[in-house]
Amino acid sequence: MSTSTTTPMMDGGYDQSIKILKTGIKVKKVIDQLKKYPGDWDHQKNLEGSQSLVDRGFADLPVSALQLIIGGVKHKDEFVGDSEINIKTPAYAHHSEIRKIIRKQFKNADIHRCGFLSLPVDEIVGAHIDEGTYYLSRNRYHLSILGRYQYFCGCHSVIVEPGTLLWFNNKLPHGTVNVGDETRITFVFDIPHGQS
Ligand SMILES: [Fe+2]
Repeated sequence: MSTSTTTPMMDGGYDQSIKILKTGIKVKKVIDQLKKYPGDWDHQKNLEGSQSLVDRGFADLPVSALQLIIGGVKHKDEFVGDSEINIKTPAYAHHSEIRKIIRKQFKNADIHRCGFLSLPVDEIVGAHIDEGTYYLSRNRYHLSILGRYQYFCGCHSVIVEPGTLLWFNNKLPHGTVNVGDETRITFVFDIPHGQS
């Protein structure tokens, strides 16, 4: 596997699978807010009518989530990946610093579903595709906050250090490995096509 660069295409998509957009972004203030509100992790599990950013099988994964905007469904049997409903969680207001960075990088674009995902040392998230019609009109990004991880998408792979902003094609198989010596935290977020 090789490190990837990609070229934006006219339709707003990209012709490859991972693009590092920026490195060295200062995330200390984001970490300070995470430390201030440890009780925000996984609080969204109790929200009625909502489903996780990592959609299905979440209970089986070693990840924890701290979601700021979450997908919603009208009925329990609906799939959140096919829903256009986005709901701010009670934790949204606590985590202004991450939103400030993203607004700066994307010129005040709307941020749709988003949240921090943590992954313990040596743990992995296996290859999967983010399924559903919701994703057809959004680009998905990471801003890495803490720890070091390998990220793979399609046939490309990168090592991600804190302060890295990357785009990836979440319609191709993707996953991650914590290759550092501390819990990995990254911020996953969606921006509508045309704004990103
Ligand atoms: Fe995914």
